[in-house]
Amino acid sequence: MSKYWSDTIRNIKPYVPGEQPQDMKYIKLNTNENPYPPSPKVMEAIQNYDLRRLRLYPDNECNGVRKAAADYYGLEKSQVFVGNGSDEVLAFAFMAFFNPGSTILFPEISYSFYPVYCELFKINFKTVPLDEEFNIGTNGFFQPNNGIVIANPNAPTAKCMSTEQIISILEKNPENVVIIDEAYIDYGGESMMKYIKDYPNLLIISTFSKSRSLAGLRIGLAFGQVELIEGINRVKNSINSYTIDSIALKGAEAAFADEAYFQENRKRIIKTRSRVISALKKMNFQVTDSCANFLFIGHQQCPAATIFKELRNRGILVRYFNKPKIDNYLRVSIGSDEEMDEFLKAVNEIITDFI
Ligand SMILES: Cc1ncc(COP(=O)(O)O)c(C=O)c1O
Repeated sequence: MSKYWSDTIRNIKPYVPGEQPQDMKYIKLNTNENPYPPSPKVMEAIQNYDLRRLRLYPDNECNGVRKAAADYYGLEKSQVFVGNGSDEVLAFAFMAFFNPGSTILFPEISYSFYPVYCELFKINFKTVPLDEEFNIGTNGFFQPNNGIVIANPNAPTAKCMSTEQIISILEKNPENVVIIDEAYIDYGGESMMKYIKDYPNLLIISTFSKSRSLAGLRIGLAFGQVELIEGINRVKNSINSYTIDSIALKGAEAAFADEAYFQENRKRIIKTRSRVISALKKMNFQVTDSCANFLFIGHQQCPAATIFKELRNRGILVRYFNKPKIDNYLRVSIGSDEEMDEFLKAVNEIITDFI
């Protein structure tokens, strides 16, 4: 605490990111990264970047990446925004669409950055309860509000909502922006991308950090009708016009160029996910139906906090949230097959020792 801090910063509880040990000693299943490298085309584009060009500012409009993303999803370039990771895009969107003092809604259990942005930007929020199986219903989003944010698939529960459910929320809230955070959509569930033309209040946020294996490049995107994208640009150009560096732009431009690699990578994770779910169920774990590149698991006899600690002692990092309703669950990213075998072996030992 410092006397120099503003009241907001004095009172805020910042988001706590998952550990990023730099020594590579751990099996990292704690931040939902992709275990496989980015597409060779991305790596080549970055390697071929003429470093002498670093003396110039980057393209502040991110034209190349926006064009590539628009072509990929069948949209116009003007319907795409590119930011420094989707966390930044989310923060900009909160500023662009939610007034200080207004009240937005999001699910009771969801991405823990949402309440942090609310606190930072002085936005009130109300959470919408989930059922006992962590399903998100629609009724809670039909109450008066000034905006909505939903992660689909949700984090950390890994469960997804149907497009019909999301459409009903959009239709009941025509005056408010509904943000759908699709960070994990390539692993399950159905994207809302094709509905952008129909709903002027729909903003989709996505990221290259998960299914495109580019968490380190920091690229997030927003998709919506032109007025929404203009709103986010107004925020960006009031804070920092050059959020993406030139090297990242080059890599990001190539990210959509290798569909075969993308599909193979995505399917590989989904296949490993099914195998790990079956193995965990055999060990009496409760596992939610995962639409994401991670699992949300709990064991009836062995507390999640114990498993978390014991895994860490064995060099395996997973995520534990010491929060009401989810403090007996772990979020486990899907790693490579070898990493998941190590994980399964370790949890088996831990629960056998405990019971
Ligand atoms: C639901 C959700 N949204 C957004 C993000 C942020 O991703 P990034 O800032 O790497 O694009 C994450 C990261 O884990 C997430 O889980």
